[in-house]
Parts: sequence; C-alpha cells; structure tokens
Amino acid sequence: MVPVPVLPTIDVAGLMSASDDDRTTRSIGDAVVAACSAVGAFQVVGHGVDPVLRADLVAAARRFFALDPSEKAHIGMPLAGPAWRGWFPTGGELTAGVPDGKEGIYFGLELPPDDPRVLARTPMHGPNLFPARPAELRSLVLEWMDAVVPVAHAVLRGIAVGLGLERRWFDRWCADPTVLFRIFHYPAVADPPGPGAGWGVGEHTDYGLLTLLAQDGTGGLEVATADEWVEVEPIPDALVCNLGDMLERLSAGRFRATPHRVRTPTIDRISMPLFLDPGWDVVVEPLPRAALDAEGPARPRWDGADLRGLDGPYSTYLLGRVARVFPDLFERVGAGAEVEPRV
Ligand code: OGA
Ligand code: NI
Repeated sequence: MVPVPVLPTIDVAGLMSASDDDRTTRSIGDAVVAACSAVGAFQVVGHGVDPVLRADLVAAARRFFALDPSEKAHIGMPLAGPAWRGWFPTGGELTAGVPDGKEGIYFGLELPPDDPRVLARTPMHGPNLFPARPAELRSLVLEWMDAVVPVAHAVLRGIAVGLGLERRWFDRWCADPTVLFRIFHYPAVADPPGPGAGWGVGEHTDYGLLTLLAQDGTGGLEVATADEWVEVEPIPDALVCNLGDMLERLSAGRFRATPHRVRTPTIDRISMPLFLDPGWDVVVEPLPRAALDAEGPARPRWDGADLRGLDGPYSTYLLGRVARVFPDLFERVGAGAEVEPRV
C-alpha cells in the first residue's frame, strides 16, 4: 500500500500554553474538528515533546525487547495483578479474538503503593513495573507520559474551541484522566501473512477519548477512511492522533472512533501509544446539542455497536474491553465478572 498523505498534519503549538491567543486557537480548533469529522485521525506536530526523549525511549525499549524472555518475565503482567502493568509476550494479547503479532509493556500513571485506589485494588491503578535493565527505561517512560499528556489535553482544547464550546469543556471528564501508555514491539516476520491472515494488531478502535502514538520509521499502521484503508505515513517527530470510543459517544456519532490496524512488518517495529481516557468514575454524556447540530452523525460504526446505549462509568466500559483482549489474565485477577460492557 502506497502511503497517501490523507491525514492532515496539525500544528498544535498555539494550543499548548495558557496564554494562547484566541484567533490562533480558533483556527487550530477548526482544523482539529475538521479532521475529527473526516477520517478521525491526524498527525500532531508543534507539540514541543523533545525529540531526544523520543529517540532515547525508543532505544531503551529496543534494548528491553532484545532481552531473553525469561528476563522480560521479571516484569510480566501477571505480577501486577489488577494494576494491568508490565510485559506480555508476542501473541499474549488478542484483538477480536485473534492473537496479535506483538509483544509489549503496559504502563499507566505511576501511583504510590499507599494511594487509596491502589490499596483498594482498583483495577488498572498501581505502581508500574519497570525492568532492572535497561535501568533508564523508568525515568524515560515517566518523562514521556508527563510530556505527552499535556499534548492530549491541548488537542481536547482544540476540539472544544472548534465546536464552539468553552476551552476547558473536556476538563469535566478528564481533569483526573485515566492514562494508559504502552510500548509495543512488532517482531519482523520474514514472510508476513497476506491480508487477512494475521495482523500485528487486528482492526479495532481505542476505548477512550484520544490516542497519541509515536511510531518509528517502519510504517504499517493503517486507518480506515470512509471507503478504504490508508497507511499512516511515519513522520519522524509527529504524534498520530486517533479518536476513541468515548469521543464517538459524547459527540453522538459526529466524530467517529477511528478503526485502525497494524500490518505484520518485515522490519522490527516499535510504537508507543498513549491513551487519554475519561476519569475512572466519570459518566460520559453527550455534548450539548448546539455543538452537535452543525453536522449530522457520521457513518455507522465498524463493529455495529451502538455507543448511545452505554451506561455506567467509564471504568465499566474499559474493563469490559480489556477482558476481551486479555481474557486469561482477567480471569486470574478476578477484576469482576460483572463488567461485560453493555454495547
Ligand atoms: C493500539 C494500537 C497501533 C500501533 O495500541 O491500540 O492501535 O501502531 N496500536 O501500535
Ligand atoms: Ni489502537
């Protein structure tokens, strides 16, 4: 597939600081909303995240993935219990019931062991598991999350402004967001299966509000437009933004959560998605009508689900989805059988 630059590149520098001038934020907001209403994915530049940090993190991740699996298992996911952190081996995660051709490490906000949510064994909350080697992975991951979370908030401010809402509209859902960060390694396969026979990651949408993903130069990430799959061109310093299910839900379908997938690569690939999701206990309600009326709902969803029927806090939805991608682990830590999503 030839990379087609259908995804707009949006410079968000004008949204990053508190002193943003309204005229600039308005024009960036318009561009963000236009991209959200079209493919639902775009390349974010001007975010100010240090390219050296990015390069160092990718290098550290490569060093970790090159270790013997027995050493990587020292931070294996089962050791984190309900916190859902740590390493899983290739084939350990399922998308639509099929094992993905990737290994990875799951991280989230670093909470101290005495945080009330950790003491209560709240699923997906806890300290991270960091490897002994390479030791620098710990500080690089924490720095990366600190640097990229504000970019996600800036994009949400752009969406709010572009929809004619108050700049901080999204704070009600994500002043205390659920933040998940993952580093994936897609091992090269000399003779990758043909289309449909196996994927690095199969077709899916992300669960929360939005995802900001740093990919290396390998390529292979594809997003679905209205009528075809297109490759997301690797741009060295850009963060790929795609919309999650909760933006679809709160926009009553005006924005579409973006179906995407990853081809099995012939060269080792690293990708690093950060997911900014609503607060754990937040009930996501649709936006005020005025912001939705401008355009009608977009196309039907890829999986036929109807997110309007969703009920309960975000955690119910998230845990239901996670139960499908890590069924064994989910059973083992007993994060609650009652969380099957209602969509
Ligand atoms: C994901 C995802 C794509 C990639 O983690 O949800 O779609 O390039 N990742 O790794
Ligand atoms: Ni995804």
